[in-house]
Amino acid sequence: MSWPYSLLFNAAFRRMDPERAHELAFALIERAGKVPVLRDVVQGAVAPYLGQRAGGPGSVRIFGRVVPAPFGLAGGFDKNARAVRGLTMLGFGFIEIGTVTASPQPGNEKQRMWRELDVRGVRNRMGFNNEGAAAAADRLRELRSTAAGRAIVVGANIGKTKVAPPEGAAADYATSARLLAPWADYLVVNVSSPNTPGLRDLQATESLRPILEAVRAAADEANATVSPGGGRRIPLLVKIAPDLADDDVDAVADLVLELGLDGVVAVNTTIGHDRGPGGLSGPPLLGRGIEVVARLRERLGAGPVIIGVGGITRADDVRAYLRAGADLTQGYTSFVYEGPLWASRINRALTRSAGSTASGRLG
Ligand SMILES: Cc1cc2nc3c(=O)[nH]c(=O)nc-3n(C[C@H](O)[C@H](O)[C@H](O)COP(=O)(O)O)c2cc1C
Repeated sequence: MSWPYSLLFNAAFRRMDPERAHELAFALIERAGKVPVLRDVVQGAVAPYLGQRAGGPGSVRIFGRVVPAPFGLAGGFDKNARAVRGLTMLGFGFIEIGTVTASPQPGNEKQRMWRELDVRGVRNRMGFNNEGAAAAADRLRELRSTAAGRAIVVGANIGKTKVAPPEGAAADYATSARLLAPWADYLVVNVSSPNTPGLRDLQATESLRPILEAVRAAADEANATVSPGGGRRIPLLVKIAPDLADDDVDAVADLVLELGLDGVVAVNTTIGHDRGPGGLSGPPLLGRGIEVVARLRERLGAGPVIIGVGGITRADDVRAYLRAGADLTQGYTSFVYEGPLWASRINRALTRSAGSTASGRLG
């Protein structure tokens, strides 16, 4: 933590309810991202590597795009696609919006987010509070109306509406996929949040198969008809929990290969703790996250993309995920503790030290 931010954290944020602090910081980032001069000056100063859209050192060629730096923002921070420009300004190499559900929903009752200061972690049971897929799609459509907005690599993470019954899960995910596919660079089917009852049961391959098939069909249909989809086959990934047994990680990998999915996002928050309700995130996840990524890479071979997430605080953590077989990485929790320049510090270190890692996988 840099000292100006640690002063601010200890004097203000630490005393505030964590969700309130998040809302405040989020509103600032969203607003700053809407002021063109401010945005361009800040981005030019803190994230010069983002200017290298053609692919500089540390960039990754993936999803038919160039991701200018390998560390991006994980799902859950910008659930409604409100602050993509502002978050990019702070130096994330790519942004995953959501989790978005087909219908808007309020999420669980508060309090639903806690800081775990001793491990620099966060525990949450937010329950997919979001404005729904149509609202997020509208914002992404607007983002894509400018060249600068089109240049940002944006993933859309979709989940099940709480009131949708298990037998309606595939149709619910498909509704979100249909709305978001024309505007996103990749889709993530989230079946690993611990905070929607029954959701993680959908990781079982017999439940996952019909969902992934329905999402694939809906996304392809939307992109065949809605410009700028233009018949583009949007990459489809699945996001899994760190609490899956190793055999179940292998089963998900086998399903990815069988269905021709494009990759896996690993990992979500863990319920393997005794700190109270909700999923734990931050440094305690690092070891298992890397282990799951290594296991997936071994089973998947070189083809499918892996986005590694869980417990990343510094550039060395990203390097460990990349060594284990990840193509890209993401983070959320350490943003709270490290402050606004966190992503820029990591990506600067990585783009300085890297020769080009452009992989060209889906390029
Ligand atoms: C408050 C909070 C909300 C989150 N919401 C979501 C979400 O909506 N969808 C999702 O896929 N992951 C969500 N996550 C999980 C993160 O995307 C990430 O997988 C996890 O926190 C591990 O990364 P980290 O240790 O860098 O935080 C959330 C995490 C936190 C802390």
